[in-house]
Amino acid sequence: MHAESTLLVRPEHLNHHGSLFGGRLLEWLDEQAYIAAIAHLDSRANLVTVGIDNVEFHHQVREGAVLRFRSTVVHVGRTSITVHTTVQVLPRGAKIFEAYVTFVALDAEGDPQQIAPLLLNPFTPSGAEAKKHFRAVESARRRRK
Ligand SMILES: CC(C)(COP(=O)(O)OP(=O)(O)OC[C@H]1O[C@@H](n2cnc3c(N)ncnc32)[C@H](O)[C@@H]1OP(=O)(O)O)[C@@H](O)C(=O)NCCC(=O)NCCS
Repeated sequence: MHAESTLLVRPEHLNHHGSLFGGRLLEWLDEQAYIAAIAHLDSRANLVTVGIDNVEFHHQVREGAVLRFRSTVVHVGRTSITVHTTVQVLPRGAKIFEAYVTFVALDAEGDPQQIAPLLLNPFTPSGAEAKKHFRAVESARRRRK
């Protein structure tokens, strides 16, 4: 359940200090995570972003950097689906950023709807990494209650 893409950091993506504008990275994050989520849902799904957790910018990014986004669905709730994304600078692969983006499926009236009937395949976290992210999302959900 991965989606990958690469982006080139151009002059119009920089802030006034000459490094990548954090808001631009968040826009890309939201878009990449959405692509990963929607790939696992049928065409009736109407997703909106409800939250972004764990946002940390680890390093400055300069013009000309090539960024790799790797997004994975790590949790499915009653009406929500959560995607973990890491961003690395190629070619060495230093991790500059990671975050969880949660989307909610809305029905025609704009109310949250159950996500299970929209899933193309049942979701189960498998492997140590997937289980680690699943637990992180579960604990964030508990903290919100
Ligand atoms: C999405 C929206 C309908 C949810 O309404 P709500 O009253 O919070 O609904 P609920 O409390 O039932 O929560 C719905 C799901 O979202 C999850 N959720 C709510 N707040 C969350 C947050 N901050 N982070 C992650 N998940 C969150 C809940 O855990 C629940 O998941 P589950 O059904 O899988 O258990 C409403 O918040 C909304 O319309 N937000 C605007 C969305 C939007 O326009 N986004 C674009 C960016 S501006």
